[in-house]
Amino acid sequence: MTRFARISGTGSCLPPQRLTNADMVAKLAARGVETSDDWIVERTGIRARHFVGDGVFASDLAAEAARNALAAAGVLGADIDLIIVATSTPDMVFPSTAAIVQNKLGIAGCPVFDVQAVCSGFIYALTVAEAMIRTGTASKALVIGAEVFSRLLDFNDRTTCVLFGDGAGAVVLEASDTPGILSTDIHADGKHTDILCVPGHVSGGQIMGDPLLKMDGQAVFKLAVGVLEDTARAALDKAGKTAADIDWLIPHQANIRIMAGTARKLKLPMDKVVVTVDQHGNTSAASIPLALDHAVRAGQVKKGDTLLLEGVGGGFTWGAVLVDF
Ligand code: UT7
Repeated sequence: MTRFARISGTGSCLPPQRLTNADMVAKLAARGVETSDDWIVERTGIRARHFVGDGVFASDLAAEAARNALAAAGVLGADIDLIIVATSTPDMVFPSTAAIVQNKLGIAGCPVFDVQAVCSGFIYALTVAEAMIRTGTASKALVIGAEVFSRLLDFNDRTTCVLFGDGAGAVVLEASDTPGILSTDIHADGKHTDILCVPGHVSGGQIMGDPLLKMDGQAVFKLAVGVLEDTARAALDKAGKTAADIDWLIPHQANIRIMAGTARKLKLPMDKVVVTVDQHGNTSAASIPLALDHAVRAGQVKKGDTLLLEGVGGGFTWGAVLVDF
């Protein structure tokens, strides 16, 4: 019998500290950096974001999102046989954040690893988990996106620090005899490394280079709109579907203008696009599973809906996953 992979539950976690644009305006003004609610809303659609407090790590958010996804799926942690965490803000250089999450969930024995594809990380992780389930290597996987981007932000750089937030989202992906993941499509082009990066690293006990986020926003914007259309069409083609079959587009939540541009190219009305960027900001690898879980819990996304998840980010990386939910 053909083996497929199906999402059986979703969960998410946002740290309690919520900063509105007014809070960011005040925070930056204290450093002599000028921004405004009007600029942030008009250029990005962002109105608020969540930041972790001291001592809270990506694994804490990931573990909570995973617990919520397990509860929604009705699956016990002990039955999970694969954990993949997509993150660019791991707790440590090593071991993987997935190993730390595994321990926090009280699980042992199953394979665990991180995927580093920045804002496309969850799409990459879901693609890998689906392949491992389809080939019989795993049967019940936790696929998580978790980030604490607030730790990478340069609060003297208004062009980036107002854009990002912290959070985590998770899905339980289970083996099934009916298709849940209909198709996957992932790509990268390493020549664009410099347009979105955190160039620092640890060497000899010291941080070498700059460990804060750098972005050429306009270059990222232009590339993003093109590749998001291409990967959406590729994922649809692979499944023999068209954009008209999509009930919900759940794109990476970076900028409402990029999301609207992609929807326009696919001829989808905005009321078929799940939007959480206004409340979460850009949470990188967490943004898609966070948006999915919020849409499920809000009663927007329902069982049987066709979902197109798609992401783009540093690397440059991009990709899409078409889902029968
Ligand atoms: O998650 C990975 C994917 N990342 C993305 O998708 C991000 C893609 N890029 C973007 O979303 C947009 O390029 C940004 C939101 C980052 C910037 O929007 P933009 O419309 O491209 O603005 P810009 O960079 O062209 O800047 C326009 C003006 C500049 O002033 P001048 O030179 O025209 O006087 C900036 O200095 O806006 C100014 N500006 C700000 N003003 C107030 C930039 N940031 C701010 C700010 N507050 N926070």
